[in-house]
Amino acid sequence: MDIYFALYRSKSRSHLNAWIVTKIIRTSMRNNKREGLTGFLHTDKDHFLQYLEGPHDPLMRRLSVIHKDPMHYNFMILADGTIDERLFPDWDMGQIRFLQPQYE
Ligand SMILES: Cc1cc2nc3c(=O)[nH]c(=O)nc-3n(C[C@H](O)[C@H](O)[C@H](O)COP(=O)(O)O)c2cc1C
Repeated sequence: MDIYFALYRSKSRSHLNAWIVTKIIRTSMRNNKREGLTGFLHTDKDHFLQYLEGPHDPLMRRLSVIHKDPMHYNFMILADGTIDERLFPDWDMGQIRFLQPQYE
């Protein structure tokens, strides 16, 4: 079965902090596990970079929900397509943060 993936970046409407990001990650882990989606979310103070992979229909449905989320804008798909195997099979939603000072 083909695995679809999408990588996008967007800009946050507010400065990100650990509380906001943790809330997104918790929701993501719950939904993504149920829908068979895996990937990661990278944040800095004002930007998101998210990679999602999984079956086509759940992935497209969830991407559409994420795209409409008022928390962010300037949503731009950087890459998408199919892959033979998942890159992050164990990550319902991995969190990648660079250096703590981003949240100052
Ligand atoms: C940058 C960003 C990434 C998100 N990633 C996911 C995700 O991977 N999975 C998910 O279910 N929701 C994600 N969300 C949250 C969705 O936009 C939406 O609020 C959520 O899917 C609604 O879930 P619910 O119907 O269970 O309340 C993300 C939100 C933002 C701002």
